[in-house]
Amino acid sequence: MNTKFVVCCLFFFIVPPADCDANPFSLDKTANLFSSFMSIFSRTFRQSARIWSRDSSNFTVPTGVEEEVENISESCLTFEEHKKLANDTKNDADQLDRVLDFNKDLLRAATEIIGFTELRAVLGFSPPGPWTNSDEITYVVPANATIEEYYNAREPRHKNGILRYSLEDKQVTSAVKFLDKRFPVVRVAYKKSYKHNWNGKKKIDRKIVDDMLDLYDAVYDSIDLRTDYLTSRYKTEECKPKKDSKTKKSKT
Ligand SMILES: *[C@@H]1O[C@H](CO)[C@@H](O)[C@H](O)[C@H]1NC(C)=O
Ligand SMILES: *[C@@H]1O[C@H](CO)[C@@H](O)[C@H](O)[C@H]1NC(C)=O
Ligand SMILES: *[C@@H]1O[C@H](CO)[C@@H](O)[C@H](O)[C@H]1NC(C)=O
Ligand SMILES: *[C@@H]1O[C@H](CO)[C@@H](O)[C@H](O)[C@H]1NC(C)=O
Repeated sequence: MNTKFVVCCLFFFIVPPADCDANPFSLDKTANLFSSFMSIFSRTFRQSARIWSRDSSNFTVPTGVEEEVENISESCLTFEEHKKLANDTKNDADQLDRVLDFNKDLLRAATEIIGFTELRAVLGFSPPGPWTNSDEITYVVPANATIEEYYNAREPRHKNGILRYSLEDKQVTSAVKFLDKRFPVVRVAYKKSYKHNWNGKKKIDRKIVDDMLDLYDAVYDSIDLRTDYLTSRYKTEECKPKKDSKTKKSKT
């Protein structure tokens, strides 16, 4: 427990909560920095609380999947692609920083929704509802709740928590389409990991739901690490447009 606490503190010390100089978009940098910090904090805090409060699971991300998601960081997104993803047409000096900052949140939301969609499908539950920015958590699940009600009550604990941008459902939906097209490995990584650990033969109980949601976290973190890198200024500036890209053809 002590070790975990130290690791947790180290994490906050090493990982700066936001790109301190990369956000001219926001008028109130302090508020933005704070909410960015809170986003990381709330997620990490909830995760630690979950890990401490019960037996750990033996569900793991298969090695092959870990290797496949590496594909994301080996790829790159051009500024053009980022603009399209962010649906940002305001062509000004701040555009690069603005779209990268926005896409960071947008990709987090899309990665989250894909993970929950696939998990619900594997468990035989109904798909997630439209995107909301709400951050409500149910603490007590009645003993007579159905297993799907139990899942619905637990899922919010695994959400990103407070994102810096309020997103609309259509924005997240469009980002999901983008990921499915550009990085199909995201959906595949979740699907393979879930199926590797639960074959559907054993009856779903609360422990399996909890273990699968922890597994969701592991896959999410592994993807988020890579998509986060794609939204770094360094990575974007270094990414050259592809020769056969449509932008070039449309010059005529
Ligand atoms: C990543 O995967 C996609 C789709 O499978 C493929 O087209 C692309 O070339 C891969 N990128 C790298 C860097 O391996
Ligand atoms: C669970 O029990 C409560 C009373 O303790 C009852 O009001 C509720 O309708 C029950 N729910 C289900 C799904 O059976
Ligand atoms: C993109 O922006 C246009 C113009 O502001 C808007 O009409 C459209 O709904 C947006 N699309 C998405 C997916 O956000
Ligand atoms: C996890 O452990 C249980 C028993 O403790 C075992 O039945 C199950 O096969 C294990 N799952 C994996 C994926 O290793």
